[in-house]
Amino acid sequence: MSLIQLPAREESAPAPKVTAQTLLDRKQAHQPITALTACDYPTARLVDQAGIDVILVGDSLGMTVLGYDSTLPVTMDEMLHHTRAVRRGVRRALLVADMPFGSYHASTEEAIGNATRFIKEAGAEAVKIEGGRNRAALAAALTQAEIGVIGHIGLTPQSVHRMGYRAQGKSTAEIDDLIADALALEAAGAIAIVLECVPREAGGLITAALDIPTIGIGAGPECDGQILVFHDLVNLTGARPAKFVRRYADATALFSEAIRNYASDVRGGAFPADAECYHLAREDSAELLAREPLKRSRR
Ligand code: KIV
Repeated sequence: MSLIQLPAREESAPAPKVTAQTLLDRKQAHQPITALTACDYPTARLVDQAGIDVILVGDSLGMTVLGYDSTLPVTMDEMLHHTRAVRRGVRRALLVADMPFGSYHASTEEAIGNATRFIKEAGAEAVKIEGGRNRAALAAALTQAEIGVIGHIGLTPQSVHRMGYRAQGKSTAEIDDLIADALALEAAGAIAIVLECVPREAGGLITAALDIPTIGIGAGPECDGQILVFHDLVNLTGARPAKFVRRYADATALFSEAIRNYASDVRGGAFPADAECYHLAREDSAELLAREPLKRSRR
């Protein structure tokens, strides 16, 4: 690896730490909340330094960095490992860890135990769970245990075998269900709700019905904030983007070109150049060059 030191952080005027209260204040002041996923240290640093308010270590990392077909195989150990790495890169943003499939489904005790690990062992400041009214009791228990909870309704990727990856809230009845889910999570003490893949109108209605903020992903601009998966934002997924994704960079093209150029330079002898080599002091170098080549002298 490169031996250079990472540049010092800007220490002059540290921006105030984002907390659950900051998110509430933002909603009341109609100031949009910015959120992104991150799952490693360098990305977390960049996202934090760019002033993003909420950093989610999403279980989408199962697909974006671990190569699984869905989020279902992601384990607690994998989430803890990535959350610790992200923690080391985040100073200002609110750091939220996604509870993986199976880590909060069996019992409240097990869910509190697992959520506590995210806070104690990985430095998360809140956890996210998928589900609405069916998770309201758990959201209340986690809140009682002093663990901030973000709910996640609409398209919930951990329910893929039941709902597929289809937009939700497509009828009045479904939207009423989503509103009931959101209100139940709010009453249970959730600090915010992620709304994924619902019609813009539903995003607006749910946002207006709640005192806590909504953070939308494919839920329209009326949400109190927006979140995207970092790998979607920079085109590093190798997959066709969902309708709601806007790509702000093309890391696939950039990285591919860099890798191809490197390989071509190595093959053509253009890398490394003399300036990329370490050198001995002139006297030592003269003495060594005067020696017989090592291979020949061994013969
Ligand atoms: O896992 C994830 O990245 C998420 C976002 C899509 C909100 O849950």
